[in-house]
Amino acid sequence: VLRIAVVSDLHAYDEHDGDGAPSHLKITDPEDQPGQNPIAGLSSLIKKEKLKADVLLCPGDLGHKARPAAIKYAWHALQKLKSILGAGFMGVTAGNHDLDSRYQYNKFDAKGLLQSLDPPYPMENESDNDRYWSRNFLVLTRPDFNILILNSSAYHGGDADEINHGRISDATLASIERRLASLERRPINLLLCHHHPQQHMELDLGDFDVMKNGQLLLDLLGREADRWLVIHGHKHHPKLTYASGGATSPIIFSAGSLSASLYQKLAARVRNQFYVADLPIPPLGSSPLVGVIRAWDWAPGLGWEPAGTSSGLPALSGFGYRGDPAELAQRIRAALPADKSRWSEIRQGIPEVDYLLPQDFQILRKALALFDIVIQDINGLPYEIGVRL
Ligand SMILES: [Fe+2]
Ligand SMILES: [Fe+2]
Repeated sequence: VLRIAVVSDLHAYDEHDGDGAPSHLKITDPEDQPGQNPIAGLSSLIKKEKLKADVLLCPGDLGHKARPAAIKYAWHALQKLKSILGAGFMGVTAGNHDLDSRYQYNKFDAKGLLQSLDPPYPMENESDNDRYWSRNFLVLTRPDFNILILNSSAYHGGDADEINHGRISDATLASIERRLASLERRPINLLLCHHHPQQHMELDLGDFDVMKNGQLLLDLLGREADRWLVIHGHKHHPKLTYASGGATSPIIFSAGSLSASLYQKLAARVRNQFYVADLPIPPLGSSPLVGVIRAWDWAPGLGWEPAGTSSGLPALSGFGYRGDPAELAQRIRAALPADKSRWSEIRQGIPEVDYLLPQDFQILRKALALFDIVIQDINGLPYEIGVRL
């Protein structure tokens, strides 16, 4: 299993100009209070649950509105998380809030602060960073995975309108296509970027900020021999979907924000979340990419707790099984003993149920209900299944 921890959109701040605080992560708050400081809370959760991860990913927006002290704080927080998770690899990419594109702290160099961070940003290695900044993307190969780290904020600070959305240019797309053609194959392929590569506009989230050309990038990855998982941030709205396209289109994980204050309509529907994804490493070219994601919610005053049922992503969700849930319902019905069964026994016989998207799991419940079969949950997780009496 490849285990990936995801922290997105921290939006750390020292001072702010608006009415409300932009996030729960104020850099002058005490760092030893797990119920008050989301990073201290994560340290506590990781120790309590003995969480380990191979990879730590952050799809951007470290600090709010590019405030230098906040970005430095969040950057050091990521180093600390990487260390306590025991992660051998950390992938980070720039969000719109990481670049001083409105020139508040610098007259001409939007990315200057990021380039002067210590340790170096976004990678440890200077030649990797040179590639990231010069080509707006970086492809790295590790024993179990390839990762494409894309700077979807690359043109922020240029033309005035660019700060309103993400972009991948035609030249970058062509360059990525050439790079992928010579890439050593790996069973797991990850794209890390800040902006959403396809529209994501429920809850009045708007359509203006989507990554321009994002669809072409998704089409390109969907044509590859091996499967891709996209991890992006920016929307602060957790969601798992398959990209448009054919049966091999990328899986898209929109990571919710770790600690940003959520605007009212969003706050009524989702929470701040932290994630750990487990991806079984399939033999090369043998099977589709599947995985499960555990999610925790930030509960101010209490710290991190397993996600609730209406938090964005639930405490446990999956991805990668693209068959019809109604067909799984038929198989479950056939496998169900006369009265009832533990959910764990169903999982053993029909492991595909673990890899349904949350919305597909809801469809499975509806399909089972047509046979009067109900899944009973405990703490938001399926526990028992049986025929309604
Ligand atoms: Fe953000
Ligand atoms: Fe953003």
